[in-house]
Amino acid sequence: MIKKYFLPLFLILGMSMTTNACSTDNETGRPETPTPTPEPTPDPDEPPVQPSGNGRCLVVYFSCTNTTKGIAERIAAIMDGTTFRIEPEVPYTSADLDYNNSSSRANREQNDLSARPAIANTLEGLENYDVVFLGYPIWWGDAPKIISTFLESYDLSGKTVVPFCTSHSSGIGSSDTDLHPLASEAVWKDGRRFGGSESEETIKEWIDGLGLTFNIGDSDVSSFNLDAGVNGNAPTVRLSSGYDMPILGLGTYSLHGDVCKNSVKAALASGFRKFDTASIYGNEEEIGEAIRESDVPREELFVATKLYPNQYANPEAAIEECLRKLNIGYIDLMLLHHPGTNDVKAYKAMEKYVAEGKIRSLGVSCYYVEEINEFLPQIDIKPVLVQNEVHPYYQDTEVVEHLHNLGIVVEAWYPLGGRGH
Ligand SMILES: Cc1cc2nc3c(=O)[nH]c(=O)nc-3n(C[C@H](O)[C@H](O)[C@H](O)COP(=O)(O)O)c2cc1C
Repeated sequence: MIKKYFLPLFLILGMSMTTNACSTDNETGRPETPTPTPEPTPDPDEPPVQPSGNGRCLVVYFSCTNTTKGIAERIAAIMDGTTFRIEPEVPYTSADLDYNNSSSRANREQNDLSARPAIANTLEGLENYDVVFLGYPIWWGDAPKIISTFLESYDLSGKTVVPFCTSHSSGIGSSDTDLHPLASEAVWKDGRRFGGSESEETIKEWIDGLGLTFNIGDSDVSSFNLDAGVNGNAPTVRLSSGYDMPILGLGTYSLHGDVCKNSVKAALASGFRKFDTASIYGNEEEIGEAIRESDVPREELFVATKLYPNQYANPEAAIEECLRKLNIGYIDLMLLHHPGTNDVKAYKAMEKYVAEGKIRSLGVSCYYVEEINEFLPQIDIKPVLVQNEVHPYYQDTEVVEHLHNLGIVVEAWYPLGGRGH
């Protein structure tokens, strides 16, 4: 097993009660006195929904009267996920939950910014999950303070957190975004409010629209097994999109015309299966031609191209141009060449092409800690990789480690060194 780097060409380095607090948009009146909701029983007329996750999803929830519990369990069933119920060290009694009494325990806690009710149970194995659904009942427009206790007790860095809530009638309001500072290194999705009797189908539709990605297979994107190559083919790394990418690729910057075509053909003959180009290189046509003329089946190949910043304002046209010039059916991986104006707009256009099956995986290039942290909350599909300058003379270990902690593969450009290095 080789850790972190190895050479050459393109390398993959492995969240006060006031009378207004209840007046959120959907509020139709004061909440009713809470009564325990019976345990949900499956509706025999509702068709079973097939699990769509891969076991790497965790549903954490707090529930006093089982409404949130019911939604949590439906999410877990849909995602083939695991549930973790936050158990308060001191259970809440009905008197504790009496919101008509301004000095009831729940009301006092919601009025006290520093209240952090203790949690009795411990969550084990958080590292095994990529996506964490976080459920809670709305208490005076906010999440109960025990949710803050939870977020301050565990490190959710790099995880995708999806808040959801139940309520008498209030919407989720800002109860979800108010939680963000408590896990600022997590990738937060917009939260959603559910009624207690929400169908599994509705919940599934919501989940399908979230664009969740998982680290399928090996969750350690920082190491590869070099012995895993089959029949002389390069070993591959499994991307969070679910596709396998050869860890070694031919970079084609500066190759044009016949030199480019012949280089690609020679590389193919030598066993290369990954090719990296870019709109700005001006050689997508030659690369596409060499690939079409080869005997190597398309599904064995992995072709990456990039949009340049001057194309971000009109991304659809640029993507269409890449598809037309390469003319190899689909693009395995499309990257943003550099951060720049409209990069989020361009990436979101790329996401649409993923939904249409014309692009399989998305990534970015030349994004460092600050850039990636700013970028991630604005997009839906997590980049499968970041391609940065990395080589023995410029190791950038802090960035590499940050990306790996986010479950993002690091791919090196200039893997042998270049320019001033
Ligand atoms: C202290 C307290 C405050 C509440 N505040 C609100 C509120 O502001 N808006 C609302 O619609 N429901 C409110 N509710 C109702 C709960 O949000 C609702 O019954 C929820 O679904 C209960 O979830 P659970 O069964 O998982 O505990 C409140 C309930 C309690 C106990």
